[in-house]
Amino acid sequence: MALYSEKVMDHFTHPRNVGIIEDADGVGEIGNAKCGDIMKMYLKVEDNVITDVKFETFGCGSAIATSSMATEMIKGKSIDEALRLTNKAVAEALDGLPAHKMHCSVLAEEAIKAAVKDYYDRNGIAYDKRQFPDEDCPHCHE
Ligand code: FES
Repeated sequence: MALYSEKVMDHFTHPRNVGIIEDADGVGEIGNAKCGDIMKMYLKVEDNVITDVKFETFGCGSAIATSSMATEMIKGKSIDEALRLTNKAVAEALDGLPAHKMHCSVLAEEAIKAAVKDYYDRNGIAYDKRQFPDEDCPHCHE
């Protein structure tokens, strides 16, 4: 069996939603504790719905593919739905990732959460701090 699924290869070679949103409502930047790679996520939010999302990354192919898929999965969804998106759900939507690349998929999940937190902070929206990982979250070390 090939190391990477066709979906992973498709999203890696034709990533969706790459770029910057200049007037983003929330921006999240996350570093991967395991490899040092970086992900930046931009959100446009209207009436609690993510109307646009873009990402930039200094990450590997798996980080690009998972971020591409993750942006497709949260576009048009409510913030609450986006916060429930897990890296495992993204990996499943890509028909799986090799076990040693699962840590790459954490970047997208964490960057989305960081962007939502930034949106909340900018708008003075109260939230439960436990919803958001601190920099030393346990699964960054998986
Ligand atoms: Fe760093 Fe994949 S090796 S994100």
